[in-house]
Amino acid sequence: QEAHAAQMEQTFIAIKPDGVQRGLISEIVSRFERKGFKLVAIKVVVPSKEFAQKHYHDLKERPFFNGLCDFLSSGPVIAMVWEGEGVIKYGRKLIGATDPQKSEPGTIRGDLAVVVGRNIIHGSDGPETAKDEINLWFKPEDLHQFRYLIKSGMS
Ligand code: TYD
Repeated sequence: QEAHAAQMEQTFIAIKPDGVQRGLISEIVSRFERKGFKLVAIKVVVPSKEFAQKHYHDLKERPFFNGLCDFLSSGPVIAMVWEGEGVIKYGRKLIGATDPQKSEPGTIRGDLAVVVGRNIIHGSDGPETAKDEINLWFKPEDLHQFRYLIKSGMS
């Protein structure tokens, strides 16, 4: 057996100020943890409005953009990087649809949220945004490096 420093897929997940205020940090973290994903970085941060605008830059033409950025910068956010096979897509599955009215029961938004403007959690929607969002919120040295033991002969 040999240890390799494999670069596993990573995604950016944030518990928004409403999720923090409602005491849902451990509930949300435990869902990712129990699934088997690994936490590689976590911090509490109150983003400035300018920072929130950077995070949501893709949505700057949308009518809800200003309110969304005010909301994200209104209090503490739990910023996290989670790692694991398929974590970007499956993380979105754990989170549920953007509008909690359309999120399935069993998902985070389906079980714990009611309205789109207070949907408690953010998750990167693809490999490019995951990379950009991790780089925006974290420095490379903030990310814990797991070492995976890969048995020789396994692909
Ligand atoms: P979006 O990136 O479309 O969704 P997601 O968070 O699921 O990736 O939108 C970002 C956030 O903007 C969303 O979580 C909540 C807010 N939002 C509204 O307030 N109103 C809306 O109509 C939409 C589409 C989003």
